Amino acid sequence: MIEKNIKKILADATQKAGYTENIILENPRQKDYGDYACPIAMKIGKKEGENPREIAEKILKNIPKNPYIKTITIAGPGFLNIFIAPEIVAKQIQSYEPLLPIQTNQPKKIMVEFGNPNIAKPLHFGHFRGLIIGESLARILRFTGNDVLTDNFIGNWGTQFGKLIVAIRKWGDREKIDKNPTEELVRLYRKFHDEGEKYPELEKEGAEEFRKMEQDRDKENFELWEWIVSESMKDFHRIANRLDAHFDVIRGEAFYEKMLPDVLQKLEKSGIATREKEGALVVHFSEEKKIPTMIFQKTDGATLYQTRDLAKIIFYDGENFDEMIYIVATDQSLHFRQVFETAKLLGYTGTYIHVNHGMVRLPEGKMSTRAGRSIGLDEVLDEAKQRSLDILTEHNTEFVGKEKEDLAEIIAMGALKFNDLSQNRRTNITFDWKKMLSFEGFSAPFLQYSAVRCASILRKAKPLQISSSMINITQPEEITLAKKILGFQAAILESANTLEPHHLAKYLFELAGEYNSFYANCPVLKAEDTEKITRLFLTKKTSETLQQGLFLLGIKTPEKM
Ligand code: ARG
Repeated sequence: MIEKNIKKILADATQKAGYTENIILENPRQKDYGDYACPIAMKIGKKEGENPREIAEKILKNIPKNPYIKTITIAGPGFLNIFIAPEIVAKQIQSYEPLLPIQTNQPKKIMVEFGNPNIAKPLHFGHFRGLIIGESLARILRFTGNDVLTDNFIGNWGTQFGKLIVAIRKWGDREKIDKNPTEELVRLYRKFHDEGEKYPELEKEGAEEFRKMEQDRDKENFELWEWIVSESMKDFHRIANRLDAHFDVIRGEAFYEKMLPDVLQKLEKSGIATREKEGALVVHFSEEKKIPTMIFQKTDGATLYQTRDLAKIIFYDGENFDEMIYIVATDQSLHFRQVFETAKLLGYTGTYIHVNHGMVRLPEGKMSTRAGRSIGLDEVLDEAKQRSLDILTEHNTEFVGKEKEDLAEIIAMGALKFNDLSQNRRTNITFDWKKMLSFEGFSAPFLQYSAVRCASILRKAKPLQISSSMINITQPEEITLAKKILGFQAAILESANTLEPHHLAKYLFELAGEYNSFYANCPVLKAEDTEKITRLFLTKKTSETLQQGLFLLGIKTPEKM
């Protein structure tokens, strides 16, 4: 990787100049500043109280002649502006395979948890983001050489199931539930709450049914619970399928149920948790942590969400995972701090990361006005598809029937995903259908279209053999495009290291733009001999990079568009 080599050269020179500092390479806003800008001298200057330009001079003096850097100059307050040598670009692109995974010397065993709704409660729209971000990060982490296990911590255990059991017995109709699981169960759950306000003893009944299940292992309740879970998972699977989200294991909260007595005992025996007078088991954290107390067992003996989370950490510790990544909305940050801190107090030293994300705000209009009932995720997916169909009808009449349907689905899912993954995951996002489905902007359809166009150029050129030994990159536009293609790995690694897919999304958009300017200036099919082969070769690499990049975002590329 060119970037890696340049970093190494700069690091050595910095060290020789008598400093130590991490090398960061930025992409300058204007291309004529260079391919990279390195702000290292300013960073050192700030720390050491020295003049950054003088530091930059010293570093510069220690940079030996090398095949990677064409020119390096000092600019502004002390930036090092770097131009890559075109010869190295031309050489490296020849053997570059965007489809091959990135090797790492230190592969990690990583659990990626995502798509983890509470199935007895209304599916809130936030779960949608988790599914999209989780699938993408899992793909990125795999592609960068890690051993990834995707896991779904479905909320399928807890007091709410006692309530549902009561509600189904009192007001439920199994056939109706079977037809429309989520909607019907949500209705029953709501009814339970409304009635509970009038008749407070209902709450107790619900708690009692759960207790019977958890502590007495009541057979009838267990069967009903199993049925509820399998019913509501139908809806979940359908949505996950449409979003192309995959789980290696589904270890819901109930999976940890058998381990809970041990967990409670561990907490109590170690002295980390204390028994309150009323019988609850709680963990108080030390003052300076500034974390509120957490309950792990209620006075009636019932366990909680966090008890199951702690059991999960203990379980995975036994399986030797290096990292545990939880993709969950930001509003659960405190929960995770409490759970992770408790695990640490118990002596678990794993790396636990809450990959938090913001909320999705629904657009004004149709979907946001249905107050009082959950927005079925299906509805959003369907609306996206309908809008894609409309656009296809508007733009193009070539597609009909099933072909049109399939294409609209690929565009719709891509658009929803890219809208999410192109933005920093921490920010709240809003739906902007127009922007999301635009064929020209920072959107999936634009990238899908760019990839399809490259593929179609290649099809037209057939049966021409494109062998890398026959290419000769000379024109500035060719070099620029090749450079951009070679930046793919750095973009993936940035997303992998920060657990932020938007770096990759942004890169793909830039690559598509770069290809467009290349295409506008360099005829491909009308070129001849080596020039034609060279340009087709670049087209092929662009196509592979776009498709592979989109795949890492969980987005499909259609055959035709
Ligand atoms: N089921 C929870 C909810 O819907 C999210 C689970 C998050 N993951 C975890 N390990 N606690 O709010």
